[in-house]
Amino acid sequence: MPWLTEENLNGTFSGTVHPTVPSSRPSCPTPLKYSGSLDHLRYLEITPIIGREYPDVKITDILHAPNADEQIRDLAIIISERGVVFLRDQDDLNIADQKKFCDLLGKLSGRPEHHGLHVHPIYRDPGNLTLPDGTTDENIYVINSEAQKKIYKTMARRAPTEPRDLSREWHSDSTFENAPSDFSFLKMEETPSHGGDTLWCSGYEVYDRMSPSFRSYLETLTATCAQPVFKSAAEAGKYDVMSPRGSPLNVGDDFAPCHPVVRTNRITGWKAIFAGVALHVTKINGVYTYEDQFIRDYVMRLITQNHDCIARMKWTKNAAAIWNNDCVWPAATPDTHLVDGNRTGVRASSIGEVPYLDPNSKSRREALGIPIT
Ligand SMILES: [Fe+2]
Repeated sequence: MPWLTEENLNGTFSGTVHPTVPSSRPSCPTPLKYSGSLDHLRYLEITPIIGREYPDVKITDILHAPNADEQIRDLAIIISERGVVFLRDQDDLNIADQKKFCDLLGKLSGRPEHHGLHVHPIYRDPGNLTLPDGTTDENIYVINSEAQKKIYKTMARRAPTEPRDLSREWHSDSTFENAPSDFSFLKMEETPSHGGDTLWCSGYEVYDRMSPSFRSYLETLTATCAQPVFKSAAEAGKYDVMSPRGSPLNVGDDFAPCHPVVRTNRITGWKAIFAGVALHVTKINGVYTYEDQFIRDYVMRLITQNHDCIARMKWTKNAAAIWNNDCVWPAATPDTHLVDGNRTGVRASSIGEVPYLDPNSKSRREALGIPIT
């Protein structure tokens, strides 16, 4: 069979076909337990499977509460169980407090000791967007639809003939790092009347919708999550990529770590599909090229054909979303070029542990006793 050659066998890594799936917990030895400190807050579940909205909560009130650490730790648990939490009207939240809160979510929920907020690799790029006050912050990633519109205009002549495939929007933040982000906290400072919704899909539920035998197979696999664009951008711009980036493990300019396809969330102890799909996943290791494509297509098919696994945020001015990248994939909706008004947001991300799979961990439905019907 001539096609079974070394050239089309993906996954050579450290001299072996199958890189090892890390199985040890580097921190947080047991799943965390919610203490009840947020029981007084009104909330609405977004769907039965994913998402929760706290319509009245101010992050600043939690930060300044006498039991702030307990409340923040509990919110970290809720975010990790529900995948994503929505908040409204965070008009009094400044950048310093947003960073502090995001950092504490990771720190108080068992993040490895020397980890902190992520630093974007190409923060030194002259094209980096500034905060609304004209300054920059190495821990804040700025999004701005007006800047995106300018890029879109340069592509306008090509756009009508290009097929639209928004599936590439699904991703998990900073999987190009050895230690990727656990919590991301995005606040939308300005938004048009409509457009620019963000969606989050549950990696817990996508895992639960697979047959036990297929889940077991995926648990043996890792994926390479390469993002060479940072190195080439830094070389072209004649600057160094930022290093370290929120962890002593996130250094240098390789940006090609291997992560487990199925991982355990350190906070809930539940399994989720992690590196089986998405923007930064470049190949499934140790399988043939067509198997790599098949696996990633299958996971993407589960995302796109199961919209009950998805929470959708319709942004309002000063709304915020906080999610756990270990168990959900966010996706932006790139339609703001069709409406008037700017969409500007600021995001901070905490850096979690090196992803691992605890073979004794359970799926979300197994842990909660929810049957697949
Ligand atoms: Fe992202």
